[in-house]
Amino acid sequence: MQNNYYPFVNTPLPYGYDALEPYIDAKTMYLHHDRHLQTYIDNLNEILKENPQLQNLSLEQLIVNASRLPKSLQTSIRNNAGGVYNHRFFFEGLINPSDKIPHGKISEEIEKQFHSIETFMGEFTKAALSVFGSGYAWLVSDKGILKIITTRNQNTPLEQRLCPILNLDVWEHAYYLKHYNMRADYIKDWHHIINWDNAEKNYRNCLKEISMR
Ligand SMILES: [Fe+2]
Repeated sequence: MQNNYYPFVNTPLPYGYDALEPYIDAKTMYLHHDRHLQTYIDNLNEILKENPQLQNLSLEQLIVNASRLPKSLQTSIRNNAGGVYNHRFFFEGLINPSDKIPHGKISEEIEKQFHSIETFMGEFTKAALSVFGSGYAWLVSDKGILKIITTRNQNTPLEQRLCPILNLDVWEHAYYLKHYNMRADYIKDWHHIINWDNAEKNYRNCLKEISMR
């Protein structure tokens, strides 16, 4: 991930605001990246400006160590460092046109563990729909084993020592302008723009991390 240390800057999207049309509209992408993500970045920089002892920690280190920080900082670091990490991860995981189906190692593993891509997509959709309020659905690697999990607010799988492969932002700001309250329609549209190359790269990195331990 680029720009992983203080001061954090809002690196541009790897595609245009309208690149994901007609599945996610340009205005949603603009607001999501330039307003919502920007706010998390600004808040995180503000916290770190006031706490220089934390400035040499990477974004991931801030998240993983949040529970060891002074109580007064834990929630704000979790929310804002998590907000930066989760959004960057989400935006990097999208592409249009997409290959539509996974390939490579991740495809083999999904078929092994979920029996078919269709079953996996069904289970992922169910998980994303089950998030009450704001949060994310994730495909993660738990020491090589694939799992579908959900996180609330801006919590991340990193805190649970899980390695993220794919995520879906189901905060209403991610879809309300186009899909209104129809989260299921948004999820269906998201299926068309999953960057499976990126998921494959993430899964291979997860496996590499295990072999390096
Ligand atoms: Fe979001």
